Parts: sequence; C-alpha cells; structure tokens
Amino acid sequence: SVLQLIALCSVCIKMSAISATEKVDGFTRKSMRKAQKQRKSQGSSQFRTQSSLVELSPLPHLKDTPSTEQQVLFVQKLQQCCVLFDFLDSVTDLKSKEVKRATLNELVDYVSTNRGVLVDSAYPDIIHMISTNLFRTLPPSENPDFDPEEDEPSLEAAWPHIQLVYEFLLRFLENPDFQPSTAKRYIDQKFVLQLLDLFDSEDPRERDFLKTILHRIYGKFLGLRAFIRKQINNIFLRFIYETEHFNGVAELLEILGSIINGFALPLKAEHKQFLMKVLIPMHTTRGLALFHAQLAYCVVQFLEKDSTLTEPVVRGLLKFWPKTCSQKEVMFLGEIEEILDIIEPTQFKKIQEPLFKQISKCVASPHFQVAERSLYFWNNEYILSLIEENIDKILPLMFGSLYRISKEHWNQTIVALVYNVLKTLMEMNGKLFDELTASYKADRQREKKKEQEREDLWEKLEALKLQDVSNSRGLQIAQNNNNNNNSLTNAEEPNTSAAITDSVNSQTFNCAK
Ligand SMILES: *[C@@H]1O[C@H](CO)[C@@H](O)[C@H](O)[C@H]1NC(C)=O
Ligand SMILES: *[C@@H]1O[C@H](CO)[C@@H](O)[C@H](O)[C@H]1NC(C)=O
Ligand SMILES: *[C@@H]1O[C@H](CO)[C@@H](O)[C@H](O)[C@H]1NC(C)=O
Repeated sequence: SVLQLIALCSVCIKMSAISATEKVDGFTRKSMRKAQKQRKSQGSSQFRTQSSLVELSPLPHLKDTPSTEQQVLFVQKLQQCCVLFDFLDSVTDLKSKEVKRATLNELVDYVSTNRGVLVDSAYPDIIHMISTNLFRTLPPSENPDFDPEEDEPSLEAAWPHIQLVYEFLLRFLENPDFQPSTAKRYIDQKFVLQLLDLFDSEDPRERDFLKTILHRIYGKFLGLRAFIRKQINNIFLRFIYETEHFNGVAELLEILGSIINGFALPLKAEHKQFLMKVLIPMHTTRGLALFHAQLAYCVVQFLEKDSTLTEPVVRGLLKFWPKTCSQKEVMFLGEIEEILDIIEPTQFKKIQEPLFKQISKCVASPHFQVAERSLYFWNNEYILSLIEENIDKILPLMFGSLYRISKEHWNQTIVALVYNVLKTLMEMNGKLFDELTASYKADRQREKKKEQEREDLWEKLEALKLQDVSNSRGLQIAQNNNNNNNSLTNAEEPNTSAAITDSVNSQTFNCAK
C-alpha cells in the first residue's frame, strides 16, 4: 500500500506538472493544443466488447441458397451482423471483422437488387441490426477546442462496418417493396431521436449519410414530419443559446432547405416562428462561416414562398448586424444580396431606408473586403434597377459615405470602385446629385469654419492662461521650476488652478459678449 501511495503521488505530480505547463496566464497554449490534436485522428465509441468473444464463421451465400431458405438465412446474417468489434485495436478479431464486412456487403446487395425480400417478419431483425450498429453514444471530442475550419475531424474508426450499415439502411428505405405502414412500428420517434443525435458526429462521411437517410424518412413517414421539425428546432435552439456546438448544423439546414421548399401556402404560424425565432438568431453564433450558405438558402426559400416576410427578416438581420467581425459582415452582405435578388419592389420600398443606412456604413468600412463586398451591389442589374426606381430616397443616404471615401479611403481599388458607383448614381439623377454635392460642400465648409473657431478660442484661452499665471502665482512657480523643484505644496496647487479657471471663465464670458 506504501507503493500504491507513492504511485498515486507520482501521478498527482505528473498531472499538476502538465496543467502548469499547459496554462499560460490562464489560457491553454496553442502549441500544446496542437500537439494533442495531432496525436490521434481516429475515435470510436464501439468498444463495447462482448464478455465472451464470439468468433464469426461465414454462412453460405444467399444467392447459392434455394429461395425457400433464403429468408431464414437472411435473418441469420442480420443477427450475425449484430456482433460489434473494437476497431481501435487493429489487430484483434481480424478474421471475424472480415466475415462481418463481407456479410454486410452481401446484405446491401440483397436488399438493393432483389424484389420481394422485405417480408413483414424481417423488419424487426433489420431495425435491430441497424440500431445495434449505429446507435451509440458519440465519444467526447478528442479536442475540446475543435475548430471545424482548421482542425482535422476525428474519424470514426469503425467506419468499414458502419458505412455498410448506413448503406444498408438507405437501400432498405429505397427498396420499392418498403412499407412505411409496417416500418413505422420500428422507425418511430425514438429511432428518429437517436438518428438526430448522431448528426453531432465529427466524421463528415457519417453526417452525409445521415442527411440522406433523414431526408428519406421525412419523405416516407408523414406521421413523423412534425416531430422531426420540432426536434431539429430544439437542436438549433440548444446550439444557439446553450452549447454553440453541434457538428451537423449545416446538414440539418440542408434538409430543412428542401423541406421549406415543400411547405404549403399560406405558411403555418409554426414555420414563420421557426424563421424568426431560430433561423434569424442563428446568425449570431460563432461558427456561422460553417453553415452560412445553407442558412441563407433557407432564409431565401422562406422569402420566395412568402414575400411579406421580407421586412421582418431584413430588420432581423440589421438588428444582428456584426459590429466587430468583418468576416461575418461580408457574409451578411452576401445574404442581403441574395435577398435583394428576389425581393419584390413593394417590399424593397419598406426596407430601403434602414437597409441603405447600413450599406452606407459598410461602404465606408476601413476593411477593404467589407467595402468591396457592398460596392459589388452596384454590379447587380436587378439591384441597380431597384436603386434607380428609388434614387431620391437612396442617394441622400449613400452620398456622404461615398463622397468621403472617394477622397479618403486608403485602398486605391476601393477608391476606383467608389468613383464608378458615384458615376452611376450621378447618371441616375444628375440634379439631385448636384444638389447633394453642393450641400455636402456647404456642410464641410460650415464644419471647417466651426473647427477654426474652436481652435481660435483655444488659442485665446492659452494666451489668457499665460497672462494670468505670469501676473500672479505663476512667478513663484516659475522660480520653483528654476530650482528644479516641481513639487508644489498641496496648499498652493488647487488655489492656483482655481484662480486660473476663474479668470478664464470670466474672460470667456467677456468674449462671448
Ligand atoms: C485593396 O483592395 C483590393 C480589393 O478590394 C484588394 O485586392 C487589395 O489587396 C487591397 N490592397 C491592399 C494594399 O491590401
Ligand atoms: C522643494 O520645495 C518644498 C516646498 O516649497 C521644500 O519643502 C523642499 O525642501 C524643496 N526641495 C528642494 C529639493 O528644493
Ligand atoms: C485658498 O485660498 C483661499 C483664499 O483665496 C484661502 O482661504 C484658502 O485657505 C486657500 N486654500 C488652501 C488649501 O490653501
């Protein structure tokens, strides 16, 4: 037990040593995190090793069996495929793993090429095999700071088997003999929930399969549709407001994109609420870059269905407009352009004012990508026609920023673009343009004059201060300074400065008179 104690202590020491070197000023060092990342790129949750190791032995081939016995053999094979193996240990059970792989391949083949093989009694065994293989608790991420944009995802080690099971499920669902009315006893809400949980998998190959499968299920099981939408809704809300982490957001949005396409009109309140309470707030999340394309697609789908949603959507985007992240701002501008591409002119009038106030700010952004992205709007024929139609509203909003940038932006490419935009706008309404130029110049003149006055006043004040100081205590201070003694006594200082301020104040009043 003494030895145990020593061992324990050394473990403790090791642990504290690691955490001390890992942290610098409370932050984990990047190099340390990188090192951890590179260690392993494969993870698996399939180490539920059976207590008694089963050795699989190959069964006869289905196609060599008389059709009367095929059904029994089919079920036997399904049961054989319920044995799970540990793929992180790459040397054990090699023979059995190979037997299972070959069997799965045969099963995929069997359900995709043969008719009449999906008899009712096979459904429970099929679903049991699928659930046993697929439904598992995903391993915690190898890398808690996993950044999907930069880091390699950890791949599912058991993929050689899991891939075939997904393939099998897909072929099963797509088989012409597939009966949703029979399957719905097994493919139920619980099944869907477990499937949705798997969307958090770090392995993109797995999420891709899931996307297709969930889409098929949504298509075939009318009774599950509302449930699926509600659960996706819940996943998104948890993602936005609680975890900010879910690997399958892009895939789920992709499915939703095609679901929205099929919504009947008029849209149900549930759908509108989903748009405003889930999709719009989703723009605030950190990982927006990973799924922005899919998100924007969903939003645009909604607007194509029901154009009266344009105003609340655009106002929602303006409300969540990024304040500091230029990369996100560029994405928002891209989405706005997609919306403007399909906007109805009557809807455009409703949002043009707040929208172009924001665009005016973006054009003036010191970040050249933001400025460039917003200036590209003027290359879009349809947007140009909308602007032209409403030029008297839009030009006054844009003019100040454009004019100023044409004189001041540090990037010459941007300046050149701005000149083009100014030229286009001038051609749309030359008279208004001239008026704005004149009033802009007058404004600048007025500003300059004000500035000059302010400077003059300060100069006057300085002069007064010097005068006052030399008249009174200043003499004494100057002497002290000559003696290299800068520390005025506490008694002197407040009174001296008070005296100066007083006299300045009275002089200022005199000036004002
Ligand atoms: C100026 O902006 C353009 C695009 O707007 C960009 O390609 C170029 O690199 C920028 N110039 C500098 C010096 O960054
Ligand atoms: C600086 O002035 C203070 C008070 O006027 C005096 O007490 C102090 O001795 C002086 N120090 C020096 C270095 O002259
Ligand atoms: C400031 O000056 C006033 C008289 O002008 C005097 O009564 C007061 O004691 C002075 N304050 C200090 C801190 O020396």
